[in-house]
Amino acid sequence: MKQSYLNDEIITIAKKIYKIDLSGYKPSFIDRRLKLIAMRKGIFNARQFKDLIINSGEFNHYLEEEIPVHVTSLFRDHDFFNSLINQISNQYNNAGILKIWHPGCSDGSEVYSMAMLMESRMNHIDFKLLGTDISHESILTARSGSLNCKNLHEVQSLFRASGGKGSVREHVISSANSFVIRQKLYDKIRFSRHVLGSDSKFTKFDVIICRNMLMYYNDKAKEKITKDLYDSLHTGGILAIGKQESIHNLEITSKLKILDKKNKIYKKLE
Ligand SMILES: C[S@@+](CC[C@H](N)C(=O)[O-])C[C@H]1O[C@@H](n2cnc3c(N)ncnc32)[C@H](O)[C@@H]1O
Repeated sequence: MKQSYLNDEIITIAKKIYKIDLSGYKPSFIDRRLKLIAMRKGIFNARQFKDLIINSGEFNHYLEEEIPVHVTSLFRDHDFFNSLINQISNQYNNAGILKIWHPGCSDGSEVYSMAMLMESRMNHIDFKLLGTDISHESILTARSGSLNCKNLHEVQSLFRASGGKGSVREHVISSANSFVIRQKLYDKIRFSRHVLGSDSKFTKFDVIICRNMLMYYNDKAKEKITKDLYDSLHTGGILAIGKQESIHNLEITSKLKILDKKNKIYKKLE
């Protein structure tokens, strides 16, 4: 099915009927994801696809759950985590309470990775982590406290490569066929549904980690999202977006100091 000409119509319908704004995504990304949904549903005819969108009560679900990409894993990119935990420990060694936000947290793997690192390296200070995502299903999975892993050996080596000290078993317990974060650490973490760029802004965090999400958005949306992130950060706070993202052409870059060029870790200047 040749789909691209339908995309603008779908974006309008999504806004009108479902109050969901898809206009910030890159056109090529929306095209790919809508094609995938049509294929999964066995739809090869544009008219049929449009009917489904207008008449199916499920379309809401497709827009929020199946258009975004949710790929994630524990200690995804250990080099990034290693650099970030070192920056945090240099800057916040004597902090009172440290607040960390992960917008676009998917199933929570990134938040749990960070929580374990913080506990192993910074347990002399109080800290709290918030994970948010556009996807209701991701937030429910994240809240379960179950880790997305089959065995702890691999996680242990990633934990150490990410700068963690000691054993991940200090932070995780085995439960039936899964691994669950220990209650003491879980109590420092919250998950909630939040749409970055359109829901109201949070105040104020010391560290914001927003990886592998901006890349799906066009420049206008990225401008708005990064401005919201910037406004939600304390002066001197750390914004970490990871190797895969690029913000070099956006307005906020002039107000950030580069801490790690490769891993795209910045400090808010004013
Ligand atoms: C590829 S995952 C990245 C997960 C994690 N940050 C990582 O790097 O491993 C991107 C996540 O961002 C979420 N997302 C996309 N747009 C969003 C928005 N505007 N507000 C909140 N979450 C969003 C998606 O639902 C998805 O779970």
